[in-house]
Amino acid sequence: MIEKMDSTKKEHVLGFKSLIKKAMKQKKHLKWVYPTIKSYDLRKARKIISYYDMYFIRNDNEIIGMLDVYPKNTCGNCGMPPKDPNLIDIAYFILSEYSGKGLGKKAVQEAIMLLKSKGKKISACTAKINEVSINMLKGLGFKKVRNCSKNRGYSCYFIDGKPVDGIKWRLG
Ligand SMILES: CC(C)(COP(=O)(O)OP(=O)(O)OC[C@H]1O[C@@H](n2cnc3c(N)ncnc32)[C@H](O)[C@@H]1OP(=O)(O)O)[C@@H](O)C(=O)NCCC(=O)NCCS
Repeated sequence: MIEKMDSTKKEHVLGFKSLIKKAMKQKKHLKWVYPTIKSYDLRKARKIISYYDMYFIRNDNEIIGMLDVYPKNTCGNCGMPPKDPNLIDIAYFILSEYSGKGLGKKAVQEAIMLLKSKGKKISACTAKINEVSINMLKGLGFKKVRNCSKNRGYSCYFIDGKPVDGIKWRLG
């Protein structure tokens, strides 16, 4: 269900670009990830894919979402430096027409198995009021590590341009 994006494959670069274009029309559904979604030309899309560790989420062969792994920072959103090089942060979204059907959880579950097989420890961030993502992470065995206060000088999440509190989660 998940497939690593490859910047040397034209269909992957085009698939990523097209996914982002669809996501840009789903501001309401993707409000938690929306500030980081920007339109890309092909060169930029290729550069992003080659820099980050990103996966397509597919349903039958169709691209329905994506999952990012942040190996360079433990926190994909605020970029807090890693204390443990094996600790990685994941972020994900599913297009609205596919959400609520068990597909997001299945994709994240698959990513967890893959990352664990590579010896990685996994963390994630959510906005404090992102009920669906929080329920999903809890259901997958994630435990709350700490609150990420919007008043610490930076914020991971914004709604309508206003910062909101976040939560850091860790698996196991
Ligand atoms: C978060 C997201 C990836 C989850 O994927 P999904 O396919 O919609 O969710 P699933 O159908 O797999 O459900 C996963 C769990 O979420 C919870 N959930 C699903 N729908 C829910 C709802 N309407 N209300 C509350 N909890 C809900 C349930 O606990 C469910 O697990 P269960 O069915 O085993 O109880 C998806 O909703 C999404 O892309 N949301 C917008 C982007 C986003 O918030 N990304 C995460 C940023 S931290």
